[in-house]
Amino acid sequence: MSALLIEGGKRLHGAVKVHGAKNSVLPILAAAILGRGESVIHNCPALSDVTASVAILEHLGCRVRTEGDTLWVDASQLVRSDVPDALMREMRSSVIFLGAVLARTGEAEMSFPGGCELGPRPIDLHLAALRRLGAEVAERAGALCCTAVGLTGCDIVLSLPSVGATENAMLAATGAEGVTTITNAAREPEIVDLQNFLRSMGARVRGAGSSVITVEGGRPLHGGEHTVIGDRIVAATYLSAAAAAGGEAELTGVDYRHLSTVTAVLSEAGCAIRSTPERICIRADRPLRGVRPVRTAPYPGFPTDAQAPVMAALCTAEGTSVFVENIFESRYRHVDELCRMGADIRVEGRVAVVCGGKKLHGAAVKAADLRGAAALVVAALGARGRSTVTGLAHADRGYQDLAGDLRALGAEITRTEERET
Ligand code: UD1
Repeated sequence: MSALLIEGGKRLHGAVKVHGAKNSVLPILAAAILGRGESVIHNCPALSDVTASVAILEHLGCRVRTEGDTLWVDASQLVRSDVPDALMREMRSSVIFLGAVLARTGEAEMSFPGGCELGPRPIDLHLAALRRLGAEVAERAGALCCTAVGLTGCDIVLSLPSVGATENAMLAATGAEGVTTITNAAREPEIVDLQNFLRSMGARVRGAGSSVITVEGGRPLHGGEHTVIGDRIVAATYLSAAAAAGGEAELTGVDYRHLSTVTAVLSEAGCAIRSTPERICIRADRPLRGVRPVRTAPYPGFPTDAQAPVMAALCTAEGTSVFVENIFESRYRHVDELCRMGADIRVEGRVAVVCGGKKLHGAAVKAADLRGAAALVVAALGARGRSTVTGLAHADRGYQDLAGDLRALGAEITRTEERET
């Protein structure tokens, strides 16, 4: 198993292109099965979650080929409508295939995704949306069996703006006769990206990016072509790395408008950030300052996925910073490991208080989830001495080449094969 060896305490200086967004490409790959033909998806990141999605597509009967960061998905002939348990376990977000498989084949069967490292991950809103569209959903022995004789357009009102439920409703609605309106939809940029891909397939979808999305369904879709947006959370991670280590970094390939709440916090902490449509440049001179409370919220609020790396950057800031995690229950699993590096963070329920002004030192730490892995790397870059970060299977779900990108930014970081403890 792998480890990252990081020699911390060195200022960064460099530039990197941010790869395509994980949270865009996963629903887009699911959407590809809606087209009776071949879809071409550019800027597709090489992530373990993408490998898992491709395995599901192939199981369903799609032919998939890859060249560089372009993926071709030929969904002309689907031969199955089930996702076996082993493939579901590879990736929790595979529930996103439910709406698409149902719309294309009229049935879908998969195991219940269950909880994950962030705590319980209910899918009640996904299922309620599918039922509203006319699907029959049976839950038995940990498996979900959905059938639909014919889906019909309807009004779906989400009780909270769930990203996955919005996407599943959009995908299923493309196969429903008539108009579907999704109210209190999630407004994340990845939803707009999904809408753009669906439109390239001939779907009539509008409103993504606002709270009301309308889908005129029931039209046969063809293959589409699309370039996936840059990953705003990867960008947030690299900005946090520069903030923690000090120095200068330039990021391209990502839309700065998707990062406004993250850059606002880092600016408040004392970083100089300059954004143009082409690039985001950050200059950071330590010490940073503590910031006003950071509350995670659905987009356009501060993203829960950026909470861990930004917290890691603020461990050494002068003064206290408070984080309030409003989206997921178990999203502070990086805290104990940060404390092993010398951070002083106290957690009570949803609130984490970061008592800054501490000097971090290198340590052997292990990641428990994807963004937690990013946080440990960020902290290690700002710490004095050598750190070893393990638990990298989590990082590989969302970062194509964390070590390579950070080296391009001037960090001393190598990846080795080591036994994990
Ligand atoms: C997506 C992202 C994830 C991000 C999250 C919040 C992908 C692949 N993943 O996850 O990186 O952290 O959005 O921005 O895009 N909920 C319910 N019932 C449901 C669905 C959700 O109660 O049926 C709750 C969840 O428990 C959570 C909240 O809604 O508390 C938000 O979850 P949701 O927006 O659905 O997140 P995901 O789509 O799973």
